[in-house]
Amino acid sequence: MDEIVDYYDELAKTYDSNRFENTYGTFIDKQERAILQLLLTHSEELVLDMPCGSGRFLNFAQLGIDGSKEMVRVSQGKFPGKTISHADAAQTGIDDHTIDTIISFHFFMHLNEEKMKQILQECDRILKPKGRIIFDIPSAKRRKLLRYNRTNWHGGFSLTNKEIRELNTHFDIHRTYGLLFVPIHRIPKRLRSIFISIDRVLSNSFLKEYSSYQIIELVKK
Ligand SMILES: C[S@@+](CC[C@H](N)C(=O)[O-])C[C@H]1O[C@@H](n2cnc3c(N)ncnc32)[C@H](O)[C@@H]1O
Repeated sequence: MDEIVDYYDELAKTYDSNRFENTYGTFIDKQERAILQLLLTHSEELVLDMPCGSGRFLNFAQLGIDGSKEMVRVSQGKFPGKTISHADAAQTGIDDHTIDTIISFHFFMHLNEEKMKQILQECDRILKPKGRIIFDIPSAKRRKLLRYNRTNWHGGFSLTNKEIRELNTHFDIHRTYGLLFVPIHRIPKRLRSIFISIDRVLSNSFLKEYSSYQIIELVKK
């Protein structure tokens, strides 16, 4: 499909250990999981994990899609009972208005405005009325403040809440959660519990758009 998919094809077999067995990965995975648990409370809803990667969050979903054949293979190995397909997120092949919730993690940061627009259009097509997308995205406000100006595909893309709203007017931002206001993983382990408490407060205060990442819940109008 493109260089991003080629990269993940190569990484698929070691993705879990490479990304989530270090201090940073363990911390971020735990925080994201806690927010998903909070938001995904209706057992009868049909949830699509897109892209599902190695299946990190497939315990929250019945369906998965990924653009990397290798990632699909890894996630099918972990979740043989789930429907996991190889497809581009902008062209899923899923029927119109059939999905209640789409979860999409560690993905939009790799894209650009044009691709994200296409994917939001596809989400709009496959979601039921009032359906939602839950995703994370680096905060453009924080990056501007810190003069972060990397532009490569690996994480160079970030947005403000205003820009997210303007990308697709068929969705409203319903809830947002800040993540990593304080760079917890860089703080010595013995002090971390104190900073985790401070991080929780700041990440969800009026300053939350200045957290490193935001988790956004978009609801279809
Ligand atoms: C960083 S991984 C995230 C996987 C999973 N959501 C997670 O949080 O662990 C990014 C995934 O996006 C997939 N991907 C990249 N571009 C894609 C596209 N256009 N359509 C579908 N999947 C894509 C890659 O194959 C890879 O599995």
